[in-house]
Amino acid sequence: MASLIVTGGYPLSGTLRLSGAKNAALPILAASLLGEHSTLADCPHILDVSNMLDILSAIGVKSRWNGEELSLDATGAHSCVMPQKLSKELRSSIFMLGPLLARFGCAVCTYPGGCEIGHRPIDLHLRGLSMLGVQIREEYGQIVCDGQNMHAAEIHLDYPSVGATENIMMAAVRLKGETVIHNAAREPEIEDLQRYLCLLGYEVSGAGDSTISIHGRDLWKTDVYHAIMPDRIVAGTLLCAAAITGGELTLTNARPQHLSAILSKLREAGCLAICSRNRIFLSAPEKLGEIKLIETLPYPGFPTDMQAQFFALCTLCDGTCVIVENVFENRFKHGAELLRMGAAFTQRDRTIVIRGVPALSGTTVTAHDLRGGAALVLAGLAAKGKTRVLQAQFIDRGYDSLEGMLQSLGAHIQREED
Ligand code: EPZ
Repeated sequence: MASLIVTGGYPLSGTLRLSGAKNAALPILAASLLGEHSTLADCPHILDVSNMLDILSAIGVKSRWNGEELSLDATGAHSCVMPQKLSKELRSSIFMLGPLLARFGCAVCTYPGGCEIGHRPIDLHLRGLSMLGVQIREEYGQIVCDGQNMHAAEIHLDYPSVGATENIMMAAVRLKGETVIHNAAREPEIEDLQRYLCLLGYEVSGAGDSTISIHGRDLWKTDVYHAIMPDRIVAGTLLCAAAITGGELTLTNARPQHLSAILSKLREAGCLAICSRNRIFLSAPEKLGEIKLIETLPYPGFPTDMQAQFFALCTLCDGTCVIVENVFENRFKHGAELLRMGAAFTQRDRTIVIRGVPALSGTTVTAHDLRGGAALVLAGLAAKGKTRVLQAQFIDRGYDSLEGMLQSLGAHIQREED
């Protein structure tokens, strides 16, 4: 168990280079099964990545770190059965179904548990795969997929699910003919997966839009090099850290176009944000102004993964802010913790009405999920006195030393391992 202890009241200032995106790295790691030797630059050293590497290792994929460059050798992959314990712990293990089916014609995994933010069904994944001809048996908590008779198909997703879109893309790359995904998710991480699949020699197009086309290929490149796109949610989190402390921040290796919704809300709160091709500069006012409404939506709408961080920000805004969480059904657990720090808000189902308060006060709070934990650290950066964030290992799932990044910007934050 780990805790982060934050002493509030220090405006952040400085420059940070963004590392690779967790939500691009995880599907790309799964897709490495569809090639042989892959080198991934800017792969983030985070818990979810190491858990995914453990799953890959259990089925015969070798990996080796060289700084932030990760080398993968999938030539020795020998099994389509994922280790039960690991695949249950890591929600993203579900991304393995597609590549395992494409490579071996079979896949067996444990039903991924729900997590802290919702019960996280996988019906869209399974329906999409069954439309590709996969026979699926769900028994004893296991999902057993038989892909011996897979075929290309035209699939319409009822909801633009990120994971389901990625799973179907990966499952279809070796299927003769054209597979089309309608109402596909449009997140930038899906474009990054498409770039990687095309580097491997597959024919995938349309990612970033609602219709993705895959023309099956049975040939692939043996050696590829791919630089993973920068993490837009880490970028948004750090920008919120500068904003909530009245500081300033320059991010390099950034893709401003991926943060349009986030930057729009920070500007609405009175921040100055100047962007160039791969840099973002933000300078925050002493007191943040009102953000009237934040509604989380699939990309390019406001990202649900930034909801908690803006919740923390809005508790100190000069006015009343409304947040509606449309994507996950249980993603406000950080609210109860922020109440303990003096925040003022009411909740009705998925809608929160936040009345800004002059100040928060430090106390002991508990992280219940990855982004909620990051939000509590942000609140601690601005609160009077000390804030201890318990269960900080949740934060490590998606941030490679959030405390290290913030310390380099002048924050007073330490980690304690229990
Ligand atoms: C991805 O999760 C991200 N994770 C999440 O990031 C992110 O919040 C989410 O997309 C939305 O942007 C990774 O990429 C590893 P979805 P995913 O399928 O694929 C429902 C973070 O903090 N749904 O787009 O699981 C689902 O319950 C994490 O970095 C079904 O009903 O998201 C949810 O309400 C959290 N059936 C909505 O769709 C399905 O089969 C969006 O889920 C699948 C999803």
